[in-house]
Amino acid sequence: MIVTHQLAILVCVAFLSGKALAGQASHAATAADVAISSGDRVYAAERFSNAVSGIRRPPPIPEAGLLAQPRSNRQAGLPLDATLATIPPDNPQTADKIALGEKLFFDGRLSVDGTVACATCHDPQRAFTDGRRVSIGVRGRAGQRNAPTVLNALYNKTQFWDGRAKTLEDQAANPIVNPVEMGQPELEAAVASLAAYPEYQQAFQKVFGRPPNGQDLVRALASYERTLASFDSRFDRFLAGDEGAIDAAAKRGWVLFNGRARCNKCHALPDETPDLVNFKDDDFHNVGVLIVRHQVIPLARKAEKLVDSGSASSVDRAAIGNEMSALGRFLVTKKESDIASFKTPGLRNVLVTGPYFHDGSHETLWDVLDHYNKGAGPRDPWLDPDIQPLALEEGELDDLVAFMASLTSEEYRELGARELVRQRELAGRKRPYRDLQRAFGPKRVEAVPP
Ligand code: HEC
Ligand code: HEC
Repeated sequence: MIVTHQLAILVCVAFLSGKALAGQASHAATAADVAISSGDRVYAAERFSNAVSGIRRPPPIPEAGLLAQPRSNRQAGLPLDATLATIPPDNPQTADKIALGEKLFFDGRLSVDGTVACATCHDPQRAFTDGRRVSIGVRGRAGQRNAPTVLNALYNKTQFWDGRAKTLEDQAANPIVNPVEMGQPELEAAVASLAAYPEYQQAFQKVFGRPPNGQDLVRALASYERTLASFDSRFDRFLAGDEGAIDAAAKRGWVLFNGRARCNKCHALPDETPDLVNFKDDDFHNVGVLIVRHQVIPLARKAEKLVDSGSASSVDRAAIGNEMSALGRFLVTKKESDIASFKTPGLRNVLVTGPYFHDGSHETLWDVLDHYNKGAGPRDPWLDPDIQPLALEEGELDDLVAFMASLTSEEYRELGARELVRQRELAGRKRPYRDLQRAFGPKRVEAVPP
């Protein structure tokens, strides 16, 4: 099994470069490989239990409660100019448009059989995620990717884990027509089903001066999402000068984040324009999340054809609906250096938006840190050079978790407190990605792409 995985990635190198890599396919299985495969077992077991539980229905659509309300622009830490700058000139914010967008966001009638709304997978009670490893759409169909939060998505330079949509407007049309999400044959079908209701005819008329149509539908959704800025965390109050807002552990974690743990290499803008807004760099990296379990060669071959076909909707279907999903940014650019690269996610509210990574494979923040601590392994030639064994002690991992927990916005304080207890308890029982030998082992010798 392990050997097959190794071959898969190595043969992939040969395929894409046209060169064979003689002599490199003979890594002995290390303790770290065993650790990876034990993680794989957990993951495989979950997949299996999902399959046999035979879920045929999506979960119920959440109610729009208080947490669905547009957020104030006066939160501690909120960058007002940058926030206003996200509003496109051709889609200005108005109160009626935002209200229409909110109504649409929670309305299952956008989906083919009335059962799935945006909020099914972006539930305000769960900080606009679904808490699942991967999302579940119409007829209980499971996708390949973990649902990111919509909070602060207004600041994203691109949307989706692979950045395949540029704006919130472009993004919103995708799930409506994706067969494993909302399942409509085309956007116009969603429009037609809404247009049957006088409440929507009136609302579209009032906001846009014309009957329901696809362009206005995605504009209203995007306008609502632009009100979902979420700051006002303990860390924001600390930055604003309240020394006592975070504890000593979180302070040590913040130092590690910018120092030995190297997190700021990606979860921050470059030094000239440091970003304490969302803890991301608007870029894509391969941080080594389990690409080794995929047969990369046939996948990449198929994906190249797909991208060449020039059809954005088939790329969306692949990203959500099949194994090509694991290729990440490659699906958009066809550049081999983008294989298994994903967008650096922001870290605000990260404690309450698990499970983690594009495939939801890591259940707790400790799992994520175990991944980074061991440096991900030698077998992936496009692994980002900033992924290195970190040699962090257990207490230092706890400090980094404390720092990340301090990025939870005030409205999710209670959820965060519960989640921290849950994750700590879980991490106390299982740490499938921990590999101390690798974490404290030699620095990675870079596998040079051929
Ligand atoms: C069946 C679950 C599901 C439904 C329904 C759904 N989403 Fe998502 N959403 C996801 C998943 C999974 C992703 C990540 C997909 C990817 O990156 O390829 C995502 C990504 C996003 C993103 C990008 C966030 C980021 O950080 O890149 C936004 C914004 C978003 N969804 C908004 C919406 C809106 C608006 C709707 C309704 C029109 C909607 N979603 C419906 C599951 C869902
Ligand atoms: C080389 C760039 C890079 C470095 C260094 C890095 N990250 Fe990441 N981070 C990413 C990318 C890219 C992802 C998404 C990867 C994926 O899903 O495959 C990610 C994902 C995460 C996630 C999951 C978030 C979510 O919503 O699923 C957390 C938490 C995280 N990183 C924290 C950290 C911490 C803490 C450090 C330092 C120990 C760190 N990162 C170092 C680029 C980086």
